[in-house]
Amino acid sequence: DEIDDTRVSLSAWYESNKRYMPWRNYLKSNPDATPNQHAYAVWVSEIMLQQTQVTTVIPYYIKWMNTWPSVETLSLAGDENVREIWSGLGYYNRAKNLLAGSKIVVDKYNGEIPKSSNELQLIPGIGPYTAAAISSIVFGETVGVVDGNVLRVLTRLRLIGAEVTSSRIRGVIQELVNVLVDSDNPGDFNQALMELGALMCTPTAPACSTCPLQNVCLAYSVKRDRETQGKLCE
Ligand code: ADE
Repeated sequence: DEIDDTRVSLSAWYESNKRYMPWRNYLKSNPDATPNQHAYAVWVSEIMLQQTQVTTVIPYYIKWMNTWPSVETLSLAGDENVREIWSGLGYYNRAKNLLAGSKIVVDKYNGEIPKSSNELQLIPGIGPYTAAAISSIVFGETVGVVDGNVLRVLTRLRLIGAEVTSSRIRGVIQELVNVLVDSDNPGDFNQALMELGALMCTPTAPACSTCPLQNVCLAYSVKRDRETQGKLCE
């Protein structure tokens, strides 16, 4: 069916087009790591990625992980040290929340990062987006990640108008991605959708002619069938 087609096309595209990111290779580079250590790495990366581009994040992520390789080591860090390592990334509240969150995980959760998206949201700085990213990528929970990229891809895919920034639209998109997400590999599905938004389904010049979701995209079909108005596609 159409949902299956969407998953298959997206996953094939992702496998041959995904960019290198050290946190995506965490388990390959650290074959003895526990799921808890993997969760910490994804947590750090997703917090850094919230307001910052991948290429900027990579060196900061490496520096941070070399300084505090685990939630325990981070929980013992001093404020000034954290500020120094984060310096240049901006939105310093993110780092303060990471530090506060690590202390809560160590003090209240015995050092074990919660596994479910719902429990993860009890940690400071972890909202629906970061919670879904950690739980799907590390623990295989079937939950969709909704970030700005996913919002744009799915509003185009289903021709959902209105302001994509409104919280009602966000709710609609969360429900939609929860249906679309592939329960066999939710982490890769979520990362593939974010990657498609970053590399192909870009805000002003989407690469519709080579998009793996061309056949199931309503925005593309409108453009093709009616020679429209608007600049939905190249
Ligand atoms: N943006 C934020 N997190 C990401 C991830 N894990 N993969 C791709 N893009 C992202």
